[in-house]
Amino acid sequence: MTFTPAPWPRRLRSQEWFGGNGRDQIYHRGWMKNQGFPHDMFDGRPVIGILNTWSELTPCNAHLNVLAEFVKRGVYEAGGFPVEVPAFSTSESAFRPTAMMFRNLAAMSVEEQMRGQPMDGCVLLVGCDKTTPSLLMAAGSTDLPSIVVTGGPMLNGYFKGERVGSGTHLWKFSEAVKAGEMTQEEFAEAEASMSRSAGSCNTMGTASTMASMAEALGMALSGNAAIPAVDSRRRVMAQMSGRRIVQMVKDDLKPSDVMVKAAFENAIRTNAAIGGSTNAVIHLLAIAGRVGVDLTLDDWDRCGRDVPTVVNLMPSGKYLMEEFFYAGGLPVVIKRLGEAGLLHKDALTVSGQSMWDQVKDVTNHNEDVILPAEKALAQSGGIVVVKGNLAPKGAVLKPSAASPHLLVHRGRAVVFEDIDDYKARINDEALDIDETCVMVMKNCGPKGYPGMAEVGNMGLPPKVLRKGITDMVRISDARMSGTAYGTVVLHTSPEAAAGGPLAVVRDGDMIELDVPNRRLHLDIPEAELAARLAAWKPLHEQYESGYAWLHQKHVQGADTGADLDFLKGCRGAPVGRDSH
Ligand code: FES
Repeated sequence: MTFTPAPWPRRLRSQEWFGGNGRDQIYHRGWMKNQGFPHDMFDGRPVIGILNTWSELTPCNAHLNVLAEFVKRGVYEAGGFPVEVPAFSTSESAFRPTAMMFRNLAAMSVEEQMRGQPMDGCVLLVGCDKTTPSLLMAAGSTDLPSIVVTGGPMLNGYFKGERVGSGTHLWKFSEAVKAGEMTQEEFAEAEASMSRSAGSCNTMGTASTMASMAEALGMALSGNAAIPAVDSRRRVMAQMSGRRIVQMVKDDLKPSDVMVKAAFENAIRTNAAIGGSTNAVIHLLAIAGRVGVDLTLDDWDRCGRDVPTVVNLMPSGKYLMEEFFYAGGLPVVIKRLGEAGLLHKDALTVSGQSMWDQVKDVTNHNEDVILPAEKALAQSGGIVVVKGNLAPKGAVLKPSAASPHLLVHRGRAVVFEDIDDYKARINDEALDIDETCVMVMKNCGPKGYPGMAEVGNMGLPPKVLRKGITDMVRISDARMSGTAYGTVVLHTSPEAAAGGPLAVVRDGDMIELDVPNRRLHLDIPEAELAARLAAWKPLHEQYESGYAWLHQKHVQGADTGADLDFLKGCRGAPVGRDSH
């Protein structure tokens, strides 16, 4: 941790718009004054952009307008000038074909909002799955001082006295309906109990994972991730973050000072400890690409191997984010990593303190929620990266969500060419499949879907479910919701639509998954594989114009974070020409 604050006072970039009495400055200030801002707001104090992903169609972020007011309080208190700006909001629950296709678009638009407008620092007001990584990517590319404030998780859901987890129980209940164990009426009743307050998914799904990643990277104040959306302390966190960003601007504490390789390694280990979403892999790789940190899939496998999953939350465990907060939240987990020698303790955070100084005095208030290491849900909880002739650039699997008996498995492939083929045939009683088979789905990767949908946890065929079987090995180039579970191999790279070997798997081929040895093998002769690949023809691209075309043309593989090739890297925030 070697950070030397910049001297203060000094002229900030916002003064290029607001400082002085030239025609341009009067033009910029004058228009702002129509909102009632007094003249001294333009005197050189830090202008803080509150980039707000509020949207009524992103229900997880629908309360962010309220939090923005608390951020503003903090900014004013610290002598800054807050300006709230609407940011592209990627709704996980509503965006088609998948919110993931718009993560990069959101990152691109927010990057330009930051660079092209008078902002000296930014508060990233986020929550739903893609909103957090997209704004962190933008902050990485502009390198303007930035702090993350997430909206917080929903309160626990309950149905018939049992906890109901966002997403996790949607998968469970829909399988139960297919197996004849639950009626449609009960399902509808359960639906109403799942989302009972403002906030993001209450499981350790992707939203909670990415909130935890922001905190573990050092980009949010300590304790931010778990505070429930409707808890008054969430508002306090917003206000404190507003105060803090003003000082960060004065000190010139930038994302590139915080998001260094050590910070990413802390985040990867934290992800293993919390049983976090596989989506964190793709998002952290993309964020690292923006700040110029050389992070690879191998780093994920290496850093996660020795970390037990100790957070007993759905989908891997039994509790929800509300209980995680009451137990002490993420600081307890990070402290545990530090005590086990698994933390870069001196990593700098946005608070200006080291990660260790922030967490060293916290207490675990519930050892059934944050488990002792010997009772871990998985001793080796990190995301596993398997490679082989079926995934030359790697594929990922979350061991804490998988069935131990399937981690070494050889089975006959049952192949679905894409998601539509899967949907058309999976319920067919004549489908030649049993629980020993390996379900394979193609063309659901970044290019193929396009956008890489969360369809990798394919539901099992009804005839298998009726036997009481709840898991099978599934392989695809898709992603999986962070709230989902199963022995599911995801992000297979290169993807089928880019000519990866997944594209040429056929019904009846034998596939071997060997997690302890990190191997994924298509058991056909090498010459046969080469011949099939030589005969493979790329799919016709579905789009000829618009953003979807741009995405399909430029998206990179999941193994490097699925960013658009021309967006990688940090471009800083130089003040551009004035057009007036
Ligand atoms: Fe928005 Fe889960 S759908 S957080």
